[in-house]
Amino acid sequence: MWKRIFKDSAPSEAKAISENPLYQDIDRERLPVHTAIIMDGNGRWAEGRGLLRTAGHTAGVDALKQILKVAIDLELPALTVYAFSTENWKRPHSEVDFLMRLFVDYLSKEIDEMDEDNVRLRFLGRIDELSPALKDLARTAVERMADNTGVRFNVAMNYGGQDEILRATREIARRAQAGELSPENVDGQLLESCLDTAGLPPVDFVIRTSGDMRLSNYLLWQAAYAEFWFTDTNWPDFTPACFIEALKDFGKRKRRFGGLKNI
Ligand code: FPP
Repeated sequence: MWKRIFKDSAPSEAKAISENPLYQDIDRERLPVHTAIIMDGNGRWAEGRGLLRTAGHTAGVDALKQILKVAIDLELPALTVYAFSTENWKRPHSEVDFLMRLFVDYLSKEIDEMDEDNVRLRFLGRIDELSPALKDLARTAVERMADNTGVRFNVAMNYGGQDEILRATREIARRAQAGELSPENVDGQLLESCLDTAGLPPVDFVIRTSGDMRLSNYLLWQAAYAEFWFTDTNWPDFTPACFIEALKDFGKRKRRFGGLKNI
């Protein structure tokens, strides 16, 4: 079901993509189906330049816009980015506040273009706990793009993998208590249908910028068989060329999913 499908692009668009030197030598049959990115290092990027950490987040938004464009050009089926974790509330109030305003600003400015690019936006995490402005904007954007058929762009916001699995488990327990299902009915498919990512393909590629090599509570269930790409580059410096380099490397990976055959 989750094969890469190439839509018929307008001839001029198709030409622009094929002529872009960045996209040469990419085996489009060997691109990931679901790429998940941990956009780390905004603070370090800013501190290295003697700037406030918040300047790093602003620069991070520009990097994200460019990476989404690549995903659109290459028709990647799904891209998920970690914008704010359930643990990020521990940061100073001023930084959290800045990030929330940045997300509102990003969404209000980018919705039109995303929609034109046929992006289908979705949010993962406890969206209900965000500010009314952000919640409303998120809901409106999701509704507006619900029928789009291009890249499935997922923004994890107030998201934690353990929290997501706990919420799904509670939902299953509630249904069992209501007599709607018995323990024998609980399988991977049911659990997946209760996750924030219900209906999305499993994550097959995780990229983390800025040198740390950990998952930080990101997509713990979904990334069970993902390939990983770590780079020392801070997120604001993660250019389309860096992204392409990672995608090409993914294409060379031999994947066995616990079996013996390379896939
Ligand atoms: C990590 O940098 C980044 C975040 C906490 C997430 C914020 C991401 C952005 C602002 C990019 C744009 C996203 C959206 C959805 C518009 P860090 O502060 O952890 O960096 P550090 O590890 O160097 O301190």
